Amino acid sequence: MTSNSSAIVLLGLGSHAPKNRLTNLELSKKVDTSDEWIFSRTGISERRIASDEEATSDLALCAAQNALKDADVLPDEIDLVVVATITPDMTFPSTACLLQHKLGLRNVCCFDLEAACSGFVYALDVADALLRSGRYKKALVVGAEKLSSIIDWEDRSTCVLFGDGAGAAVLGRDGAGPRLDGFLCGADGANPSLLCQPAGGSSRPASNETLTRREHFLKMNGREIFKNAVRVMEYAGRTLLERHGLTPDDVDHVIPHQANRRIVESLSQRLSIPMDKFYCNLEKYGNTSAASIPIAMDEARRSGIFKSGETGLLVAFGAGLTWASAILRF
Ligand code: ACO
Repeated sequence: MTSNSSAIVLLGLGSHAPKNRLTNLELSKKVDTSDEWIFSRTGISERRIASDEEATSDLALCAAQNALKDADVLPDEIDLVVVATITPDMTFPSTACLLQHKLGLRNVCCFDLEAACSGFVYALDVADALLRSGRYKKALVVGAEKLSSIIDWEDRSTCVLFGDGAGAAVLGRDGAGPRLDGFLCGADGANPSLLCQPAGGSSRPASNETLTRREHFLKMNGREIFKNAVRVMEYAGRTLLERHGLTPDDVDHVIPHQANRRIVESLSQRLSIPMDKFYCNLEKYGNTSAASIPIAMDEARRSGIFKSGETGLLVAFGAGLTWASAILRF
C-alpha cells in the first residue's frame, strides 16, 4: 500500500573522517600560503586527508555502518542505496554498487547522484520521493568524497579549501527521528567552467595534453563562486520557507554547506537568521562537498542541540551550479 502522506524520517545518521589531519601550518610548507590567510578568508584551520589505501567507497562504508547502527537497522533491511559524490572510486561502476558489495547487500537498487556540494540534499529529495512511491522501504543515502584525489596541490587558491570525509543517513517511512518536510532543488548550467574538473570526461578525454595542462584537477573561479553561492543559498532557503508558510524566525537550526565561514555569515545576514542558529564545523574539515551537510548534521545531532518540536533548514550550493534546501522537523 503506497501512501503519499506518510512521513519519511531520518532513522539514523553516521559520519566518518579519515584519521590524517592536515593543518594550515603544514599546508604552508607545501604551497605559498599561511594559517592567517586561510583562516581569515575561509574559517578553515585543518582538513582530513584519506590515505592512498582509502577510496571514496571506504569512507562511505564507515559512515554507512555508523548510520545503520544509529538507526538500529540491519544492512539487509536496506533496499535503496544512493551515493552523492563527485569523486567516485571510478567513473563506472557506481560507488553505490561498490558500497553495496562492501555492506554485503544483494539485489538492491544502487546508483550515484552527482550534484557536487548539493549532492546529499538532492539525494535526500530523490530517496524521499522513491520511499513515498512505496517501491522501496528503507534507503541508505550517503555523501562521500575523496576530494584530495582531484585537488591540484600546486594551486594555493584551491588546495587550502577542501578535505575528505563521508556522512550517511538511513531513511524510512514513519518511525523515530527527524521528519523530512519539504525540498527545493535547482540548477543553472550556463557557466560550468566556474567550478569544474575539465578533463577525463567525454568532452576532453585523458591525453598527454590534458595531463600536462593539469586539467584533471579541480578548477575554480573563487570570487564568482562566492558571489553565486551567497545568492543561490539565500534563494533556496527563503523560497523553500515561503512555500511552507514559514519565516526565517521559525527556523531553530540551519545546517549550511560547509564551504567558507564568510559565505555562511553572508547567508545569515541575508536571511536575517542569527549566526548562533548556524551549525559550522568547517574549521575542522574544510569543504568536503557532498559529505559536508551529513557530517555536520551527525555532529550537531550528537552534540544534543536539536530539541523535539524544533525546525531545521539544510541549505547547499555546488558546482553546476546547483542548489538545494530541505526542511527538517525534529
Ligand atoms: N594563500 C595566500 N594567498 C592566496 C591564496 C592562499 N591560499 N589563494 C589566493 N591567494 C591570493 C591571490 O593570489 C590573490 O593575490 P593577488 O591579489 O596578488 O592576485 C589574493 O590572495 C586574493 O585572492 P582572491 O581569490 O581575490 O581571494 P578571496 O578573498 O576572494 O578569497 C576564496 C578566495 C577563499 C577562494 C574565496 O573566493 C572563496 O571562498 N570562494 C568560494 C569558494 C568555494 O566555496 N568553493 C566551493 C564551492 S562548492 C563545490 O561545489 C565544490
